[in-house]
Amino acid sequence: MPRIEWNSSLSVGVEVIDKQHMRLIDYINELYDAIHSSTTVNDKRHRIASVVNDAIDYTESHFGFEETMLEEAHYPYLKAHIRVHQLFVRRMLDYKKRLLKGEDIAQELLETLGRWLINHIKNEDKDYSKWLVDEGKKPEATENSGWLSKQLSRFFGSSS
Ligand SMILES: [Fe+2]
Repeated sequence: MPRIEWNSSLSVGVEVIDKQHMRLIDYINELYDAIHSSTTVNDKRHRIASVVNDAIDYTESHFGFEETMLEEAHYPYLKAHIRVHQLFVRRMLDYKKRLLKGEDIAQELLETLGRWLINHIKNEDKDYSKWLVDEGKKPEATENSGWLSKQLSRFFGSSS
């Protein structure tokens, strides 16, 4: 699997979510780089562990933000969407555990992450974003801007 380039086929048409997906893709590419361009075994292990930790943190913030946004909008399929997120986080934590035990699963993790994210964006995320757009409930709408910045700092801190 090569590095992932973000392109417009991955856009869900909701800018704030696209930005977060770009950041998730950056993490996947950082994992790719850690696997492919680390200089020593130790360096590789440290880089992989650190990017996996950061990626899990960011993913949880992203899911939290997304779920809060969909709750606020009364998205009818929110429960199913949350379920998909929960299963994915559980899988990531499982990989992390195996990594900490010293198992060499970085490549498998990279492929799983890449496949899962692209598939999730193109299917479940595009389903809700189309609904948000059709209902006029995009979080960027001017009347929501106070809500949006409050939630961004809640989940991502001031730097978002
Ligand atoms: Fe999602």
